[in-house]
Amino acid sequence: MKPFKGRDIISIRDFSREELIYILKVAQKFEKQNKPVLKGKILSTLFFEPSTRTRLSFESAMNRLGGKVIGFADAAVSSAAKGESLHDTIKVIEGYCDVIVLRHPVEGAARVAAESAGIPVINGGDGANQHPTQTLLDLYTIKKEKGKITGLNVGFIGDLKYGRTVHSLADALSKFNCNLFFISPDSLKMPSDLLEELGERGTKYTETDDLNKVSRYLDVLYATRIQKERFADPIEYERVKHSYVIGPSLLRKTKKDIIIMHPLPRVNEISPNLDKCRQAVYFKQAHNGVMVRKALLALVLGKVK
Ligand code: NCD
Repeated sequence: MKPFKGRDIISIRDFSREELIYILKVAQKFEKQNKPVLKGKILSTLFFEPSTRTRLSFESAMNRLGGKVIGFADAAVSSAAKGESLHDTIKVIEGYCDVIVLRHPVEGAARVAAESAGIPVINGGDGANQHPTQTLLDLYTIKKEKGKITGLNVGFIGDLKYGRTVHSLADALSKFNCNLFFISPDSLKMPSDLLEELGERGTKYTETDDLNKVSRYLDVLYATRIQKERFADPIEYERVKHSYVIGPSLLRKTKKDIIIMHPLPRVNEISPNLDKCRQAVYFKQAHNGVMVRKALLALVLGKVK
């Protein structure tokens, strides 16, 4: 394992299976621990795209561990609106804090920021590309709810083309010998380069547009929002926006102990009637974000060995 102190968290690809397992173990320790190990440290949250969970769970994590937070939640109030480059923004802000969490609409922006910064940069989502901290809380949730990750049958449904949470999580699960089922309309299929990578690693996957064909095999179903803001053509969004709506009736066709996950926010892809079913774990999943982000902050700031 490479040391975590000073490390950037940009893509889930940068982490071995062993490192992923280690982060989950540290997160578990933080379930109950709120010692002020980050006292005197400052986190900057630079959010150039909307966010509720990612930004606030990072803030909660930092506050719980005794650190402080500065930042902005809207690019319109930052100097980016005056035309400042991301490089310049990062060069300035690194002098104000110890670690940066960045969310940006451009794919690769987090990598560019990490190259500019002398302090750790954590990717809070870069366009349709990657969302590694979401993946860690997704893995944490799977491990906690199913007792294991290895060998599970995991279905992804919805917007597999633009969904960065899907891209990151599919990559991580391929390191755990999971069988993947990609369920989407034809126009929102997984990008072919990502499928090629899975193929090269020997990951078994199936693509379909019909959930009914695969629902009985699944241990986990990961539903996603159709990413309206990333469509080049609004007519295409209108065509696919109601593609799948999951409700309690799905559970008649699945294993009894399936878990239904969603990174949230949901629009209409999961009926609120499913919320009370024990299989629906998406709110617990969102809460797990705090533990995982406590672990990541403590690790990159060198407060955990
Ligand atoms: C996701 C994101 O931003 O990619 N949200 C999140 O971080 N929980 C999913 C989404 O926006 O649909």
